[in-house]
Amino acid sequence: MSYLDLMPHAHREEIGKLRAEKEKLLASDKKGVLVYRKLLESVRHLGTGYLDFEGDVVRIGKAEELESGEQSKVEKVLRSLMPWRKGPFSIFNIDVDAEWRSNRKWRRVLPALPDLKGKIIADIGASNGYYMFRMAQHNPALVLGFEPYLHHYFTFRLLNGFAGVDNLQMKLLGVEQISLFEKSFDIIFLMGIIYHRSSPVDMLRDIKKAMKPGSTLIVESQAIPGKEPVALFPEKRYAKVPGTYFVPTATCLRNWLTRVGFQEVEIFFKHGMNSSEQRKTDWMAFESYSDFINPDNPELTVEGYPAPIRVYLKARV
Ligand SMILES: C[S@@+](CC[C@H](N)C(=O)[O-])C[C@H]1O[C@@H](n2cnc3c(N)ncnc32)[C@H](O)[C@@H]1O
Repeated sequence: MSYLDLMPHAHREEIGKLRAEKEKLLASDKKGVLVYRKLLESVRHLGTGYLDFEGDVVRIGKAEELESGEQSKVEKVLRSLMPWRKGPFSIFNIDVDAEWRSNRKWRRVLPALPDLKGKIIADIGASNGYYMFRMAQHNPALVLGFEPYLHHYFTFRLLNGFAGVDNLQMKLLGVEQISLFEKSFDIIFLMGIIYHRSSPVDMLRDIKKAMKPGSTLIVESQAIPGKEPVALFPEKRYAKVPGTYFVPTATCLRNWLTRVGFQEVEIFFKHGMNSSEQRKTDWMAFESYSDFINPDNPELTVEGYPAPIRVYLKARV
């Protein structure tokens, strides 16, 4: 059975064409693909019946399930997939301390969620699937991760190759393709994405098309502090990140959602950022939050813009 059988209004023909293109890419011997395929093949024989997605750490496998020498082989593969941006994970008792403590975001989102049991869910910009695993705990019918980057896609494939959770699937697709999944989802997560899009309002319109009547959207975003409904548009970079376009205030983001036609739009959480939530670790060796902020004034980015806060909104169709 294809996951599309759960989505009677999805544009099957166009999705089928895209799927064929991606399958061709994934089966090709292009350098960027081959490296990942070889890594995954080296540990393909390993699996586990031990899964724990309830706590802050996503736990897949226990060391005692492995034969001698296999744990260091797994660690080598995991290290080859650095930088680890989202986590934490424990894979056969190897602790992967990622740059982001994503468990904190999940704890903030959880109380605002409808029951996920039996639901069809999209996680847009799913990265390595940390949140997808946390959703699996609630027995959804399907979580479809949209993730266009090979690195994240293969990292998820590795993790779910060990875990074997059938109702979690990731596709090499971006938010650009979401409207092909017409009226398909009960819940859509859009976390850490909107400020990376040059046309955020158009993106929200596309997302709305993919939602079933009565469904829920969860949006989490970087934001600037303030009550005015305005967005910052950086000249080049914001907090050193070049692909940042509009960084809204919470009310600006609420107005975007309302103007697109979402109902019951609610800002349910806001918090300041700090370097205990996003930091350099043994599994992510590059610059992180503390390098993005003015060392003499934590209220400003290195470019002199207001430092980011994070905001959480919920809306319904
Ligand atoms: C800032 S991260 C956020 C990850 C995660 N959703 C979270 O909240 O922690 C942005 C993610 O979006 C992915 N991404 C980049 N371009 C995208 C696109 N066009 N459509 C969907 N996701 C995209 C990136 O690869 C990355 O995994």
